[in-house]
Amino acid sequence: MLDVRTAPAAPSAIHRADYRPPDWLVPAIALDFTLDPERTIVRSRLEVSRNGEHDLPLRLAGEELDLLSLRVDGEPRELLIEDDQLVIDLTGATAVVETEVAIRPATNTKLMGLYSSGGLLCTQCESQGFRRITYFPDRPDVLSKYRVRMSADRTAFPVLLSNGNPLATGEGENGTHWAEWEDPFPKPCYLFALVAGDLAVNRDSFTTMTGREVELGIWVREADLPKTGHAMWALKQAMAWDEQAYGREYDLDRFNIVAVSDFNFGAMENKGLNIFNTRYVLADRETASDGDFDAIAAVVAHEYFHNWSGDRVTCRDWFQLSLKEGLTVFRDQSFSEAMGSPAVERIDQVRTLRAAQFPEDAGPLAHPIRPDSYIEITNFYTATVYNKGAEVIRMLRTILGAEDYRKGTDLYFERHDGQAVTCEDFVKALEDASGRDLTQFRRWYAQAGTPKVSARLEQDDDGATLHLSQQTPPTPGQADKHPVVLPLKTALIGRDSGRELVPEQVILLTEGEQSIRFDGLTEPALLSINRNFSAPVIMDVARQPGELEALAVSDTDSFARYEALQELMLRELLSGINEGPLNAEPVIAAARATLTSNALDPALKADALLLPSETMLAERRETSDPAVIHRVRDTLRAAIGTALKTELRDHYDAASRANPESLSGEDKGLRRLRATTLGYLAAADPDLARELAREQYESARTMTERQSALGVLAMLGGPQADAALADFFNRFKADALVIDKWFGIQASVPSDATLDRVVQLAAHPDFTMANPNRLRALAGSFAATPFAFHRADGRGYEWLADVILKTDAINPQTAARFVPALGRWRKLEPGRAALMRKALDRIFAQPNLSKDVFEQVSKSLG
Ligand code: TRP
Ligand code: ZN
Repeated sequence: MLDVRTAPAAPSAIHRADYRPPDWLVPAIALDFTLDPERTIVRSRLEVSRNGEHDLPLRLAGEELDLLSLRVDGEPRELLIEDDQLVIDLTGATAVVETEVAIRPATNTKLMGLYSSGGLLCTQCESQGFRRITYFPDRPDVLSKYRVRMSADRTAFPVLLSNGNPLATGEGENGTHWAEWEDPFPKPCYLFALVAGDLAVNRDSFTTMTGREVELGIWVREADLPKTGHAMWALKQAMAWDEQAYGREYDLDRFNIVAVSDFNFGAMENKGLNIFNTRYVLADRETASDGDFDAIAAVVAHEYFHNWSGDRVTCRDWFQLSLKEGLTVFRDQSFSEAMGSPAVERIDQVRTLRAAQFPEDAGPLAHPIRPDSYIEITNFYTATVYNKGAEVIRMLRTILGAEDYRKGTDLYFERHDGQAVTCEDFVKALEDASGRDLTQFRRWYAQAGTPKVSARLEQDDDGATLHLSQQTPPTPGQADKHPVVLPLKTALIGRDSGRELVPEQVILLTEGEQSIRFDGLTEPALLSINRNFSAPVIMDVARQPGELEALAVSDTDSFARYEALQELMLRELLSGINEGPLNAEPVIAAARATLTSNALDPALKADALLLPSETMLAERRETSDPAVIHRVRDTLRAAIGTALKTELRDHYDAASRANPESLSGEDKGLRRLRATTLGYLAAADPDLARELAREQYESARTMTERQSALGVLAMLGGPQADAALADFFNRFKADALVIDKWFGIQASVPSDATLDRVVQLAAHPDFTMANPNRLRALAGSFAATPFAFHRADGRGYEWLADVILKTDAINPQTAARFVPALGRWRKLEPGRAALMRKALDRIFAQPNLSKDVFEQVSKSLG
């Protein structure tokens, strides 16, 4: 095997400690685009100014640019390119630098810079895509005022959009037209955007808290216009929420969203011109599930909230990414909680954290929310930076309290408006506004790894003592860890009465070990701890038999009830996986109590009944055999399904009363409960479930019902599955987002036959690796289905390695995102571990790997 350090021309790492302010600033830039998919000409005019006293040249980044000319203060200059940088010697304090370059959007398969998607021309500049458009100091601490002119063929590109406000439009020669836009707010180049194409618009308006009228537009293909209502609704809700919750008002006269079908991520917060993956814009009830609707609202809100947390106040360097992403995810999560049921939202957030972030934090790619080094920054748009980053902000709010937290964010936005700042600046603002010392809390920014917290409640005649300890495991490059600040929301519940003996309080665990005394308890107490998941940790609570069952029905916090049942299931499953006894009885009793409880709404029942995922079970062990985990989990699922068949069937039938027109919590919850109960019935009685699913599929009035029925049919297999899959394809073949589901459902079947199906699907005429959504639907779904992916013969790994290599040649960012699935070999039994390493070795041996894939594979091999 090649060693990272000796690999030929190994790409080098960039370190946070090496940060230096820019040598030159660019207060203003004028851009002029002559747009053509085959060859676009970009003329740029930079007003540069020397930053401080030095005699260093101006260095401008450029990538895949054809440089046609360079002028400095109007005079032509020789071209000097060093390491992809254009180096320009300047004598004075300021200069005007003009370049002219040619680029080829039509062949831009990386989807970074200016590219073409479904006849549109659009840009993606975060993190370092602007250098693929023009020569520029492509770093977030260089803020400029932008003026943009673009001209294009009027028939092919009737709509011309950029950031800020429109200035003028006009006709040109040869059937062209042009438009000029100006953005009054200085911004880093990663927030630049341009869109040209044949788009229709859903227009609306929003009146801000100070009475300003903002014109809103959602731009899509004409045929998709009827699917933009939900996104528009979400946008207006988000605008109102940010005013009320954070005092943040929108600042331009226009806010535009454009949907594009080829996009590497979810969406992008370009100032005044957000660009979205179509999947986070388009929805109607026939083609989008409840989950899709919710994701649209969350992403629309997320990108909108970036206007303040990201755009008005931006990042000094890319190591500070969580400054904007962690904060903005926390803001979108709070928004979703306010729009729906807080407990249901919180359960979803925690499930995501456990499924995506905990494994990352325990694996070879673990990094702190503020990383110390990177080879390719795109690899750090992770669940750690985003979701753990959001948990860190949530803890700050819990520790400071809502009022001081708000004072802190007000101070942060006011103090740093128009600046590019650091995570430290954020914490300092909260510290200054609240008067609290957050010194120890800062460790959350520096330390990787998920803390483990042990808790034991020791009862005596006068009361009880809670013994707590914390420990964070070593992660790559960080052998020794220090205790972090953990706000643990805690209550004591009477075992007999179900009353709160000690009402909820926030315990701050700051030491390695700590004890807390509770006096005057009137009855035996049940420990309810880390309520609402107030700290992102793995809890290990000493429990007596019967405690979890009691908490699952009597805890006064909905999230804690969910957790109690999950913990109970987890313990039994782990016992079974460890070849110990698998006693289904307590789980069945608790599941029955949950299902038939009158105190729980349907969504909570549906969530609480779902067994912990196979991934989560694997996480709790040193190493494991995915087939054993799957079998044990299936056994418990079937046992629950069999024991509760009557109740499940009743709830399944009753849940059909959900109003298909409604997205209320109640109606979405009923549909979710229908899916959960059908899943259990499928485990207990496949023939019955097949029949129910077929009926549900055929009579479905929403995509939610149709998709969950199809999922069950596909899982059970047989002619009914084939018929339904064929029907689904024919019904929706014109709708790319639904066909993504069709690929995804088939790739998610936990079966030995899935790989062969996936191989077949990769040869389907509608499959293409060039479209990230389609590729993720097939390869991403497959890699996320443990039983299908972790074949004992290793063919699943080999297939994914091939996908990574092929994709790397066209779209490295997207290719690299599949690598973590191959990085979990340390957690596997020796046979599979060796096969997985072999697949990684094979990738690593390829010449000309992208930096993106190189970094992920070399770190995964470790
Ligand atoms: N800033 C975007 C967000 O969180 C993420 C993003 C969109 C992105 N497109 C990207 C990150 C391309 C890296 C590369 O909303
Ligand atoms: Zn974001």
